[in-house]
Amino acid sequence: MSNTPNRYLVTAALPYANGPAHLGHIAGAYLPADIYVRYLRLMGEDVLFVCGSDENGAAITIQAKREGKTPQEIVNKYHAVLKNGFANLGIEFDIYHRTSSALHHQTASDFFKILYEKGVFTEITSEQYYDEQFNQFLADRYIQGTCPKCGSDRAYGDQCENCGSALSPTDLINPISILSKQPPVLKTTKHWYLRMDELQADIKNWLQNTQENEPWKNHVIGQCNAWFNEGLQPRAMTRDLDWGVPVPLPDAQGKVLYVWLDAPIGYISATKQWAIDKGNPELWREYWQNPDTKLIHFIGKDNIVFHCINFPMILKAHGNYVLPTNVPANQFLNLEGQKFSTSRNHAVWVHEYLADFPEHQDALRYVLAANMPENKDSDFSWRDFQARNNNELLAVFGNFVNRVSVLMQKNYAGSVPAVPAHILEATNIEFANVFDTLQAFPYEYDAAIHNFEFRNGLTELMNVARLGNKLISDTEPWKLIKTNPDKTAAILRLCLRITAYLAAYCQPYLPFTAIKLRQFLQLTPADIQNIIKGNYTIETGQHVEPVGLLFQKITEEQINQQLEKLQAAKQQNPDKTPESKPDIVYLPQKETISYDEFAKMDIRVGTILAAEKVQKADKLLKLQIDLGYEQRTVVSGIAEHYQPNEIINQKVLVLANLAPRLLRGIESRGMILMAADPATGKLLFVAPPNDSSNGATVA
Ligand code: 2FM
Ligand code: ZN
Repeated sequence: MSNTPNRYLVTAALPYANGPAHLGHIAGAYLPADIYVRYLRLMGEDVLFVCGSDENGAAITIQAKREGKTPQEIVNKYHAVLKNGFANLGIEFDIYHRTSSALHHQTASDFFKILYEKGVFTEITSEQYYDEQFNQFLADRYIQGTCPKCGSDRAYGDQCENCGSALSPTDLINPISILSKQPPVLKTTKHWYLRMDELQADIKNWLQNTQENEPWKNHVIGQCNAWFNEGLQPRAMTRDLDWGVPVPLPDAQGKVLYVWLDAPIGYISATKQWAIDKGNPELWREYWQNPDTKLIHFIGKDNIVFHCINFPMILKAHGNYVLPTNVPANQFLNLEGQKFSTSRNHAVWVHEYLADFPEHQDALRYVLAANMPENKDSDFSWRDFQARNNNELLAVFGNFVNRVSVLMQKNYAGSVPAVPAHILEATNIEFANVFDTLQAFPYEYDAAIHNFEFRNGLTELMNVARLGNKLISDTEPWKLIKTNPDKTAAILRLCLRITAYLAAYCQPYLPFTAIKLRQFLQLTPADIQNIIKGNYTIETGQHVEPVGLLFQKITEEQINQQLEKLQAAKQQNPDKTPESKPDIVYLPQKETISYDEFAKMDIRVGTILAAEKVQKADKLLKLQIDLGYEQRTVVSGIAEHYQPNEIINQKVLVLANLAPRLLRGIESRGMILMAADPATGKLLFVAPPNDSSNGATVA
């Protein structure tokens, strides 16, 4: 609690705009950031809170292929879903920007150019995986294979999600392109690598010095040290991809900035946009370039290296930017004892929660804050959600406020009662412990929040509500009023004081409730400041409004519905291995043809009479096909999918008027139509019914 405001720039990780946010994301980064920011604002600090959608990179292009949409359509769709989800949950950014914007492209591009001019990149030509069917280099996430560390067969080219190891695509055993489901080939390509090896010593020093002023979480420092001990390697800052910020160099056609280079620069472009919107375009510099700024990044633990090493490294290399004061990364929140999984739909999505539990935003904020994975992974379960809502939020906090409201209305028609001075004094002495607690509370609460111990902060807040409940239970004002109305009035005034503290201080955690409490006590912003300064006085005759129920009970039925929903998702996406649902990627549709062009194709029903392997050709089978009007030899690339003996008598469709081709010395006359399954890559026969006649035409 300072007299001159400190300047804070608070960021929350830019979520990929390839899907909605779930509760794991909220507990990991957005809720702690919002609590922190709301608290700093309450204390009168100068805070800017920025976030936005991360709209570049392979995460987006893969989702676009999955949904059969363009990357721009995908980011437009999910940007809106994410933005609304945050806003409806009371996560209040000063700006929620996006990295597909022109301003971001310009900012990231300029940033890259300066780094380039400063000589921090080295050009390296290397062999990288390429999908011949899709004619494109494969970003790390486009390659799956067996993890060399744990043997999981669903590791990605950048990371194994089973054991968490960081990988390179060439580390994978039996790599497969997720586009074509075929093994990729190696092809040479040039990229610009950040000399992380050369910059390591400097950044390590900075991190060590930072710790002297402001200790960071152990698990954050531990992860950084693990990277340092392993020794940083040059890392490519560009990618071969057709979506993202183009590399601003002449010899970089078809290349874009690595998403982890441009995404954190998104914090800067968001700040620039905010400044423009404010009508003071240069104001962003106050937050990024004035060394007094405290820059705090809220992220999940999977983002630690990028925010504690990579981004500070490029900020330092660029020069003229502040570096983070702290990166209070959280660990992961699990759901009903298992990892959240987008692919298996083992998740509670924010927008669905808000639809299923309208007006219960604070219940969720409360439960997520109480279970926040601050230093180790924690769990969200629907039963715990119910218990915490019903037995804590409602039974302790809500009940206290409700009792005060009812007593005030019933006994005093909502008007603060007068109390003779000596009774007031005597009562205050009798309940000195209440004053003591209220006096100590702001310091404990402040320390908890400044140390990023949000669970403790919430406990402190709830202890104030508990204090109030105990006062009421111990004194039983509804009975006392019959024998000692003056003392009862004094106790009620004390209850109102407790409520005033709750109204002021619950705002970071329970902003929707704070509005109701402030209405209840008719508190002005000046009153809130007085509460915080310890100067708030309750005046005789002051009016209080009846407060409705602050929280609603969560029923068994509501919980059962949620559990059934999770179960149903599981049955649709059975859990064979972690992240077991394969990525489905659809080939882009080919260009439009006219009917006349289609009509040129003569497609016939046939039956395979004989099949044999073609010597020295792993993929080819030589087939004899009965077309009714004649028999044909067709060479087909299905040998990796079918044994010759299992396809005898198989009904097939044959493109009969395809020009003959010589394959391995065999004349192939026609082509069998096969469906390439996008989930498995398996080739399946496009088979006409068994009773169709050979030679029948298809149109
Ligand atoms: O992990 C993620 O979801 C990333 N989109 C986070 C980016 S944070 C920052 F660098 F923008
Ligand atoms: Zn692994």
